[in-house]
Order: sequence, then structure tokens, then C-alpha cells
Amino acid sequence: MNKTPLNIGLFGLGVVGSGLVQVLETAGLPNTNIKKICVRTPGKPRPVAPEKLTLNPMEILDDPNINVVVETISHAENAFQLVSEAMRRGKHVITANKKMVADNLHELIELQQLTGSTLLYESAACAAIPIVRTLESHFAAEPLKRISGIFNGTSNYILSRMNGQKLDFQEALSQAQALGFAEQDPSSDIDGDDAKYKLILLAAHSHGIIVRPEAVLNFGIRHIRRSDIEFAGKHNCRIKLLPVCKRIERNKLMMFVMPAMVSESHALFDVEEEFNGIELETGYSGTQFYRGRGAGSQPTGSAILSDLLALQNGYRYRYLKHNQNGSTVLDAEQPLRVYLRAPHGFPLKQLAFVHIEQKGETPDGSYVIGVTNLNTLRLNAGLLTGNGIFAMRYDF
Ligand SMILES: NC(=O)c1ccc[n+]([C@@H]2O[C@H](COP(=O)([O-])OP(=O)(O)OC[C@H]3O[C@@H](n4cnc5c(N)ncnc54)[C@H](OP(=O)(O)O)[C@@H]3O)[C@@H](O)[C@H]2O)c1
Repeated sequence: MNKTPLNIGLFGLGVVGSGLVQVLETAGLPNTNIKKICVRTPGKPRPVAPEKLTLNPMEILDDPNINVVVETISHAENAFQLVSEAMRRGKHVITANKKMVADNLHELIELQQLTGSTLLYESAACAAIPIVRTLESHFAAEPLKRISGIFNGTSNYILSRMNGQKLDFQEALSQAQALGFAEQDPSSDIDGDDAKYKLILLAAHSHGIIVRPEAVLNFGIRHIRRSDIEFAGKHNCRIKLLPVCKRIERNKLMMFVMPAMVSESHALFDVEEEFNGIELETGYSGTQFYRGRGAGSQPTGSAILSDLLALQNGYRYRYLKHNQNGSTVLDAEQPLRVYLRAPHGFPLKQLAFVHIEQKGETPDGSYVIGVTNLNTLRLNAGLLTGNGIFAMRYDF
């Protein structure tokens, strides 16, 4: 697609969709026009001309003049149906939906090969930080060791407020909800699912692995207490929710999402409030760090704007590392140092620590620090994400 006019069919006009409308109005991308916008609820006041709106997705899918679908709806299964149908009809697709991409990455790559349509999703992983294209283009040939960081602004905001303002978890969450940083149901953010979806997208480009979400362990911050924050503070650390994809051997990776203690010498220590930060340990160029807005109406709209321009210039993802390293697998047996705080009397031995290094008491229960591995954590995940129990990495 060489400088072809982009006639856009937009699905969704919420936080992200209306952000795109605003940035397109002010940036004025040549040869680009939003032809139709499909929403779900009739009668809502909308910041666009009524004749642009429809409740019928077929008005976009059936329109041969619409050559690009931008998908910004909140429901992953519906989004997949719309996106895959659009691609089968020869339309290019830009999506912000990390869950939809992470749940269906294999199928979406196959659809791109089958149909020749392009799929871009820069806005789905840390929004305004241009990380997907950096990995896909700049680091396409360089072997990367590790990608990690703060991929979820909601949980980072909560942790920052618990640390800085000494709020308890519930107070910090209510504040995040009042400011629009957290949804009424914040589960995906605070349980680490949102960060995991982004990790899955990024790992496909950084390490060439394509994994299903259920294969990656995610522990969140739902049961964190002030005593955990204070414990970290005594070691000059802050707790951050960190997704990690790390190369162990040539074809073996470790991948998980867990809270972790981050020391003050580390770049992620000062990534506070709703900001995101990404750390990349590369093969030849040392460690790099990216910081920016990982959510919000205009920052996310800006990432979609950039994808539109890339599409207009004929850009598409080549998944070079996946095509070269298709045999890469996950290794869940590597040792991991973990802090576990649980109510007094909790059967800590069930966690099967290989080695316990420290035991102690906090106002919220007893803790142990010891060595375990991802397999053991996964086997005990039901227990370890239960009420009153908090687990985090302890290898700062
Ligand atoms: N919010 C962010 O900062 C951010 C950042 C990066 C990525 N994302 C991702 O972007 C997507 C959208 O997020 P958002 O915050 O913009 O959500 P949102 O504010 O809830 O807006 C969702 C929009 O989608 C419409 N919609 C829902 N189901 C639909 C369907 N089946 N057909 C047509 N329209 C439908 C809704 O219509 P009504 O207006 O009629 O309800 C609404 O306009 C999500 O996948 C999210 O994970 C969000």
C-alpha cells in the first residue's frame, strides 16, 4: 500500500476511539479520512457528526471503499470476530486490543499470511511508547536477552500512592478509579492479566515466541498490604508489578508477571504514578530504557496515528525472530527467589521452597523468603492468589 488514501472504518468511540478522532483532526494526516464509526449504544452524545455513526458493523465490513479498520472496542471476542472478518475481506487492521491480540496471535499471524492484509498493534502494548516497532524493526536481527518493565499504569498508580501517600490498597484503588486510571472492575489491571497480554505481544517481537496467555504465570497486587510496601522500603526498594521475558539458553525463555522489589539504583524505581517504563537488555547494545504514557485518550490515539502513517508507507510486521526461532520454548524450572507473606498458620511448606533463607513477622502475617520455581508457583497459584496472601520476587 503506497501512499494510498486511507478510508477508515472505526469500531468504538470510547477513550481510545475519541482520542484517535481528536489527534487525526489536529495532526491532519494527508489522504486519511474516517468514513464510518460503529458504536454499541444508541442515543449517547458523541463528538462526531451523526451521519458518520452506525450501530451496524456490516456498514463498515461491507463497504468496499473502506480499506482500513481501526478496532478500539473493549470486548476481546467481539473484536476478534470483527478484525478477522475485516482481514478476510481484504481490509488492513489497526487494533488497540491487547487481550484480543494475545488470545489469538497465532491465528492473526496466519490470517495476515493468508489474506495479505496488514495488522498493526503499536497502541496495544504500552500505548505511546513506540516499543513494538522498535523491537520489530530496529532489533529485528539483534538477539535480545530480556524485556521487562512497568506495563500497567493502573497498578503502578496504586503502588505509587501506597508508597508515597501511605494509602492502603483500597484507598489507592478508589483514588485511581475516581481519576479514571482504573475501571470499575479493575481485575485485569490488579491481577496482572493486562501486563501479561502486553508481555505476550512484546515477546513475539523481542524473542520470537508465541504463547497462549494460560501458559504464562501472572500474580498481581490485589492482596498487597502497607506492611509489604514498608518491608521493601527498609531495603531501599519499591514494589513494582513487573512482567519479564528472559532468555535462559539459546532456545529457552522464562516468562511471567509478578510484583517485584526494585532497588533505587534501578531505572524503574522512579517510574511512578500512571507512567510505564520498559527495560531492554540487548545482545550488542547494552541496556536500554523507555519511559512514557502507557494509556490515555490522546497518547493511545497518537500510537494509532503512527500505525496509520506506517501502513500508508507499506509497513507490516515480519515476525522475523519467530520465523527464525520457532523452536523456542518456555522453561519453568529455573530457580526464583520469592517473598511470601501469608496469614499466621498458613501452610507455607506447601509452596515447596527448595531453600528457605529468611522467616519473619509483619502486622499482616508471617513471611518467608526462599527459592522456588515457576512450575511450583503455578501448581500452587490458587493458594497463592488467595485472600490475605501476597507473593513477590525477591532478587533486586
Ligand atoms: N483506555 C486506554 O487508555 C487504552 C490504552 C491502550 C489500549 N486500550 C484498549 O483499547 C480498547 C478500547 O478501550 P477504551 O478505554 O477506549 O474502551 P471504552 O472507553 O470502554 O470504549 C469502548 C468503545 O467500544 C464501543 N463498543 C463496545 N463493543 C462494541 C461492539 N461490539 N461494536 C461496536 N462498538 C462497540 C463502545 O460503544 P458505546 O460508546 O456505545 O458503549 C465504546 O465506544 C480496549 O481493548 C483497551 O484494552 C485502552
